[in-house]
Amino acid sequence: MIQLKKGVYWVGAVDWDIKNFHGYVTHRGTTYNSYLLVADKIALVDTVKAHFFETMLRHIKEIVDPSEIDYIISNHGEPDHSGSLTKIAGMAPNAKIIASERGKNILTKYYGDLDITTIKEQPTLDLGGKTLTFVPIPMAHWPDSMVSYVAEDKLLLSNDAFGQHLASAARFNDEVDQDVLMHEAATYYANILMPLCRSVDRAIKALEGVEIDMIAPSHGVIWRKNLGIILEAYKKWVAGETTEKVVIAYDTMWESTKKLAYALAEGVGSEGVPVKVYNLTVSHRSDVIADILEAKAVLIGSPTLNNHVFPTVAGFLAYMRGLKPMNKIGAAFGSYGWAGGAKKFVEEQMKLAGIDVLESDIDVSYKPTEDEWQKAFNYGKMIAQKVKEG
Ligand code: FEO
Repeated sequence: MIQLKKGVYWVGAVDWDIKNFHGYVTHRGTTYNSYLLVADKIALVDTVKAHFFETMLRHIKEIVDPSEIDYIISNHGEPDHSGSLTKIAGMAPNAKIIASERGKNILTKYYGDLDITTIKEQPTLDLGGKTLTFVPIPMAHWPDSMVSYVAEDKLLLSNDAFGQHLASAARFNDEVDQDVLMHEAATYYANILMPLCRSVDRAIKALEGVEIDMIAPSHGVIWRKNLGIILEAYKKWVAGETTEKVVIAYDTMWESTKKLAYALAEGVGSEGVPVKVYNLTVSHRSDVIADILEAKAVLIGSPTLNNHVFPTVAGFLAYMRGLKPMNKIGAAFGSYGWAGGAKKFVEEQMKLAGIDVLESDIDVSYKPTEDEWQKAFNYGKMIAQKVKEG
């Protein structure tokens, strides 16, 4: 039994196995956190993915009989949090389900007609000793998203916000490796919340002035110590702050584009600027995008295949375009045989992703000559200098 605060329990599930969360590679698995609040009345806040229902139920039964649950709060209708809602509601016949207006629509679409009270009808909920206030945070992550705040405990049940895909036997932020934790928090933000930064910013502002000493998200560990670390990180990410760093993502057919990528990396490195190089056949797009989150510059290379871009690069560009990284400069490079095409396509897609694309003539036929290798090195050096200029 895991108690966060007196009468507030974690009753979620750890998913050690999941390695692909709707297209995002979750190397370290995840958790689906649901919380049971026990006061004069009993409320369950969020549920778990459908096939973890039994786990959640076992955790609830350690504390109360499920039939005693008075309220089921759905902060967000995405199935990782609502997948067990109908089953637990079936075991708690007197429970009133509460969701946002849009949450009601989403839950109805997924699960059919349910008797749902909206937060417009009930913006707060007094459990007798614990008062929940529901704060909508639309588009952080879906239109229905909201958080539940428990004033007496200064506890924010933040749903997707401040989450991490991190399976762990530990439940609290001070119990896990801090580098791993912040890496997973950043990766989660980059792959899920980055394109919604304005909504996340609004959500953070909506919580300004609210006394919070614990943030319990619906994925990963609960922030109970040093909350400033994650709050400051979110402020930095929503503002699109960058560091002196260059990310190079490429693919290759006969190692010509690879040679250019490596020459560019050497050029960047020669200026003392950190650089990461990703081959898109062996690197997952969600890892690359995590590194791009705070990078100042992004260089993307593709060989021309059948007068067009290489498929792995096309896939990455589509992913990046949807995630809209902020405040980046970038450039395209590549190689071709008898006719080009890839570089132009890459440049267009980078522009559509919101990247400030610089002119580049790093586009070589067949195989880079020594001069062309040197040109790529010098181009990398120039990018690094621009990154240092800020
Ligand atoms: Fe964790 Fe948007 O669901």
